[in-house]
Amino acid sequence: MNILITGGCGFIGTNFIYYMLHETDHDLINLDKLTYAGNLQNLTSVEERYGGKRYFFEKGDICDNSLVEKILHEYDIDMIVNFAAESHADKSINSPDQFIESNIHGAYNLLELSRKHKIKKFIQVSTDEVYGSLDSEGLFTEDCPLAPNTPYGASKASADLLCRSFFKSYDFPVIITRCSNNYGPFQFPEKLVPLTFLRAREDRSVPVYGDGSNIRDWIYVSDHCRGINLCLQKGRPGAIYHFGGNAEYQNLDVIKKILDVMGKSHKLIKFVKDRPGHDHRYAMDYSLAADELGFEPGVRFTEGLELTINWYLKNEQWVDGVKSKEYSDFMESWYR
Ligand code: NAD
Ligand code: DAU
Repeated sequence: MNILITGGCGFIGTNFIYYMLHETDHDLINLDKLTYAGNLQNLTSVEERYGGKRYFFEKGDICDNSLVEKILHEYDIDMIVNFAAESHADKSINSPDQFIESNIHGAYNLLELSRKHKIKKFIQVSTDEVYGSLDSEGLFTEDCPLAPNTPYGASKASADLLCRSFFKSYDFPVIITRCSNNYGPFQFPEKLVPLTFLRAREDRSVPVYGDGSNIRDWIYVSDHCRGINLCLQKGRPGAIYHFGGNAEYQNLDVIKKILDVMGKSHKLIKFVKDRPGHDHRYAMDYSLAADELGFEPGVRFTEGLELTINWYLKNEQWVDGVKSKEYSDFMESWYR
């Protein structure tokens, strides 16, 4: 099969490309605009080993109608996994425009052209943030109302609704996956885990928003990749599947764990102003994915954190490369 992967130079897309080249014999076409979060260097070894054989890179925007049409046609695409998106909640609060463009218009463009091209399966990679926030009890289920609290969450929820409408109106074979917080190799250091690592490595303060009591359900990125591949193999068109890590932790505890693995002092922790509309807690009921797909997260949080930190320690060149990107200016302004 020929699979179009959008956003393959980002964090999860990169991990998915490695996963799929290793675990399947599909051919992969990666369409990525290379925003600040996209990094072509993530895939240098893929390009060397598989480039022009099982792996093809196309630089471009999912909103570009003629480019997407050309790719669907020239590569005779069978299935699509749409990772391409602006993905950072803080950034969406400061400037939502690009989130609306890529996450909604981009998804619509892919859906409409895929429908005309008679794509066999379309996976929309979505997020638990579409549900808003949980109190201390309960889990998100697939039938929870959509109640996003950030422009990022709203843009992802909008794309999910477009997907739903394409299934209902056109019988288009789309599947929505909603996953909790990923961590692992290649994550851009605007997100909590790599940001904590990077700043602690330089003995700089590590910012925790509010009192640090917000809770996220952490999933190691390869578990998410496995879940998406299960959807490609046996996901039911029209379904929504949840993936979670069974690993709920308060942010403050996540930061402390990272500092402990690195042998750094907790004195680096600095409480800063809270994120506006900060969701208190995310936690996923993934029993449908377990029943229908056989999904279970495999990597425990402590093990995953060690794998992640060791990866960052071994890949200094990658770390130094992303550090020079725009994240530092943006983050510094946020903490003030
Ligand atoms: P990321 O920001 O690391 O990567 C996004 C990638 O998409 C980048 O390579 C970027 O260049 C590309 N991109 C952005 N806009 C584009 C456009 N218009 N056209 C083509 N390429 C474009 O994001 P990520 O963390 O890897 O997330 C990937 C997907 O998974 C997103 O859709 C996100 O909403 C979803 N998701 C992420 C998480 C998480 O914890 N990171 C959890 C659940 C769902
Ligand atoms: O839940 C899935 C979502 O997880 C994805 O859809 C998003 O793409 C992804 O960015 C992530 O969203 P969060 O906003 O939860 O991730 P982030 O890493 O930005 O923050 C995790 C938690 O840590 C959150 O409660 C905010 C807090 N935080 C974050 C940063 C960057 C801090 O306390 N300090 C920080 O410096």
